[in-house]
Amino acid sequence: MLDQLKALETSFEEALGNVETEAQLADIKARFLGKKGELGGMMKSLGQASPEERKTLGQAVNVTKGRMATRLEEVRSSLERKLIDQKLEKDWTDITLRSSLKHSGVKEAGLHPVTIVQRELEDIFLSMGFDILDGPHIEDDFHNFTALNIPETHPARDMQDTFWFKDMNHLLRTHTSTIQVRGMEEKKTPPFKFVGPGKVFRCEATDASHEAVFHQMEGMLIGKNITVAHLIYFEKTLLSQIFKRDVEIRLRPGFFPFVEPGFELDIQCLICGGKGCKVCKQVGWVELLPCGMTHPNVLRHGGIDPEEYNGFAFGLGLDRLVMMRYGIDDIRHLHGGHLDFSRQFAK
Ligand code: DAH
Repeated sequence: MLDQLKALETSFEEALGNVETEAQLADIKARFLGKKGELGGMMKSLGQASPEERKTLGQAVNVTKGRMATRLEEVRSSLERKLIDQKLEKDWTDITLRSSLKHSGVKEAGLHPVTIVQRELEDIFLSMGFDILDGPHIEDDFHNFTALNIPETHPARDMQDTFWFKDMNHLLRTHTSTIQVRGMEEKKTPPFKFVGPGKVFRCEATDASHEAVFHQMEGMLIGKNITVAHLIYFEKTLLSQIFKRDVEIRLRPGFFPFVEPGFELDIQCLICGGKGCKVCKQVGWVELLPCGMTHPNVLRHGGIDPEEYNGFAFGLGLDRLVMMRYGIDDIRHLHGGHLDFSRQFAK
């Protein structure tokens, strides 16, 4: 009888090996484990055995039954997976296929120019070994101001008109410098370098070069013995990569509470070539890259010892960069939502 049981299990396995459909699986289940199945038949024939034998054989039949049930379940789930895979392989649509669109008369849109430039910049920074970090649009006072060395009563808070929430603790971030703080909190131990791109919000009147919502890309590099010379070299390299040519730049002292010393880096206006126009407010230069050496208080707030480490930070104005690149003379086009505008940049 034990031999019979073994033989039964072997033919069960053979049958399982050939299963291709759920119906076949159900047949096998009925044939071997069903009420009138082969195992059931063996159970019945136990009635003729002696009580001793009945006990051992009964146990053996039960163990085999359990094993067969487990195997059935295994084969069932792998069959299910196989059938899903087959279905996926057969029934799919290439949603990236553009040619059908072209023939359908539907006009293609394109990536927004800010997205195009942001992605290009990310590639440049990645090639320089920077990480790309993200941060929330809704921030708290600490990350937007206090940790950046702008205490509650500091007049520098008025430099940025803020959209506050009713609790007067939360706000729409006014700059991506918040990502400096979040980056330090995340990275913990220098050396590190990262950029953080995204939207920022200011409650202010709009004109050709100001919008209530715009885009920045914050950068921070922290290590040991970093100097202003590193900062300048880095920025020149960066800008030549961005504009794919040498651009005229100038560095002026600039005040930002989170850097000391702080600078304004201007580039010669690429729209008018320095003659003066609406975008550069007739001065021939455009503020592009405020930057400076990270203030020790900022490092402290980020949990980093300023006696041991230092570094620099910069804030790229993405919209300005886009306007320079594509010769757009009014920032408000960027948020106009006109498809004819965006389409011009489709690649
Ligand atoms: N957060 C500043 C702003 O929005 C820009 C800025 C200035 C960023 C100097 C920096 C910096 O990292 O060093 O006006």
